[in-house]
Amino acid sequence: MRKGVFGAVIAAAAIAIAVPAVAQSPNDTIAARVAKMKELGAASGAITAYVRENKGTPADMVKAGETMQGLALQIPTWFPKGTGDGDPGVTKNRAKMDIWAKFDDFSKAATALRAEADAFVAAARSGDREKITAAAATLGPKGCGGCHTPFRAPQS
Ligand code: HEC
Repeated sequence: MRKGVFGAVIAAAAIAIAVPAVAQSPNDTIAARVAKMKELGAASGAITAYVRENKGTPADMVKAGETMQGLALQIPTWFPKGTGDGDPGVTKNRAKMDIWAKFDDFSKAATALRAEADAFVAAARSGDREKITAAAATLGPKGCGGCHTPFRAPQS
């Protein structure tokens, strides 16, 4: 009996994991993705501090790059239909409606971030400051900017 109940609990948990972000209210989805973007922002901030002020270590850069590697391909899943700036009942946010008009391009921008993050982690693992700085120089503009420029509205 106990086992059966426990089994049912596990099955319910598995279903909860499988349910995509769409099951949340649009505004919860937006808040969750903004929090995730802030994780990317924190990793990016650590990289900038290393490049500009020589703060932190190559090991820190491996960590920052791995954060981006881990999140990059998830990004499209944070943007279910109905969560754009302009969708009914949705709080003001910075997701342009173009995301859903050009979702393939949006997904490609996430893949591009993953490629940049891969290259950055490889550079960071070398421990060579010049290589890390060179990889960082394309990571921001191509990896993040490659999506923000077309798909993120300016801050209001
Ligand atoms: C595939 C597209 C895409 C990629 C790649 C991407 N972003 Fe974003 N980002 C967005 C969109 C769209 C928003 C606006 C989301 C919203 O307002 O709901 C955003 C918002 C943000 C925000 C603002 C959060 C806030 O306070 O409102 C930060 C910070 C951010 N991104 C950092 C980054 C960093 C750093 C990278 C690269 C490591 C990155 N993003 C890569 C699409 C992307």
